[in-house]
Amino acid sequence: MATALIVLAAGQGTRMNSDLPKVLHPLGGAPLVVHAMASGRAVSPEKTVVIAGHKAELVEPAVLAYDPDATIVHQTEQLGTGHAVLQAAGALGGFDGDAIVVFGDTPFVSPDTIARMAQARADGSDIVMLGFEAADPGRYGRMVVRDGQFERIVEAKDATPEELAIILCNSGLVAADAATLFDLLQTIGNDNASGEYYLTDIIAAGRKRGLSASVVTCDEAETLGINTRAELARAETLFQAAKRTEALENGVTLIAPDTVFFAFDTAIGRDAVIEPNVVFGPDVTVESGATIRAFSHLEGCHVSRGAIVGPYARLRPGAELAEGAKVGNFVEVKNAMIHEGAKVNHLSYIGDASIGAHTNIGAGTITCNYDGFMKHRTEIGEGAFIGSNTMLVAPVSVGNEAMTATGSVINRDVPDGALALARARQETKPGMARKLFAKLKAAKAKRDKGA
Ligand code: UD1
Ligand code: CA
Repeated sequence: MATALIVLAAGQGTRMNSDLPKVLHPLGGAPLVVHAMASGRAVSPEKTVVIAGHKAELVEPAVLAYDPDATIVHQTEQLGTGHAVLQAAGALGGFDGDAIVVFGDTPFVSPDTIARMAQARADGSDIVMLGFEAADPGRYGRMVVRDGQFERIVEAKDATPEELAIILCNSGLVAADAATLFDLLQTIGNDNASGEYYLTDIIAAGRKRGLSASVVTCDEAETLGINTRAELARAETLFQAAKRTEALENGVTLIAPDTVFFAFDTAIGRDAVIEPNVVFGPDVTVESGATIRAFSHLEGCHVSRGAIVGPYARLRPGAELAEGAKVGNFVEVKNAMIHEGAKVNHLSYIGDASIGAHTNIGAGTITCNYDGFMKHRTEIGEGAFIGSNTMLVAPVSVGNEAMTATGSVINRDVPDGALALARARQETKPGMARKLFAKLKAAKAKRDKGA
């Protein structure tokens, strides 16, 4: 059945105490709202509608970066979850199929759980809601099930003491026929303790019409919603723990798992070794058998089989290491291809460059890629040797099997096989150092006496 995903992301998230809307706070390097959208991918939604309100101008680009086909709808006033869902009615006008509602601040719902909700719909329930047994039901809406019939949801604020004793709580997620959902939402009012239009009221409204409703349950950990910085930090801890377990199960060696930090999309091959204190930003792939040594930071890069990175290396977006390439300590690589077996072992910056296969880059080499206005490229051929402390003033190229002398400032192209020397010639003055020491010593003695 065709499915549309509706993501509620209009709230400010007052308790985050932040200028950033709550749903844009990152978890594993991706905004919370992206995690919610990713859970929904289980049902391969034909349409995704994100309800944005508070700072919608910031939410919109983040949503579109993840899914350029998503539709953003503005909820100018946050009048409640029911009102929020109803804002999607226009964007889904004429949509024939189911709608699944997820919350932008609830990042852990597994695709499997969403698929089970879709299955419950397929099995004949008119409205399916996701519930969980709460260890501490607190402020959650309570799901009232009587004689096996799911009758309604009552918000904690509106509940009687008997209702508050219910531990089956509402996660907020709904699956229903889209047209039916919007129909029901048209009928609900806001006569309750919060003066809001509650999405949860569709159960009672639906039952009144003779529709069937059922509860799909999941583990409480999945429905964890983020409302405060403390909850976000706890969520990050849980997220990292899950990623570490996943990496270990995939056959990755983590020597000190608790010190390695992953992003939502980090992909690491079997038998790769990740040493302690490594941080992965978004968009990193590390192939089988590569080694990332301690204290390295990687983002937006690809490390091939058998390559070795670090310790203390930084790979920035666009860094591409071919098989057996080596990037050593205190080396930064950005937007650069390091071809097979090439080595950049010590204290270098390689940016906007291509380093040919088996080329050696000496310690302290820098590609001077930025003139203050524009970035320029450095192209180095295969089997070349770049002497230590070479400044490569881009745009510039060094050919195959070419060499640059240590300490050179290279600002003109070096052809294949050539040696480029670009430094002052050494002058040696016999005895001059001793004379200079004596002179300086005398000057210091004179000054000390005067003081
Ligand atoms: C909601 C449920 C409650 C459930 C709980 C689970 C209702 C009435 N209550 O309560 O039963 O136990 O979630 O966490 O649905 N939002 C909008 N526009 C609005 C209002 C909210 O986009 O006008 C968004 C928020 O940004 C948030 C989500 O909807 O992402 C949930 O809203 P929130 O106010 O946090 O609902 P709860 O009071 O937690
Ligand atoms: Ca909430």
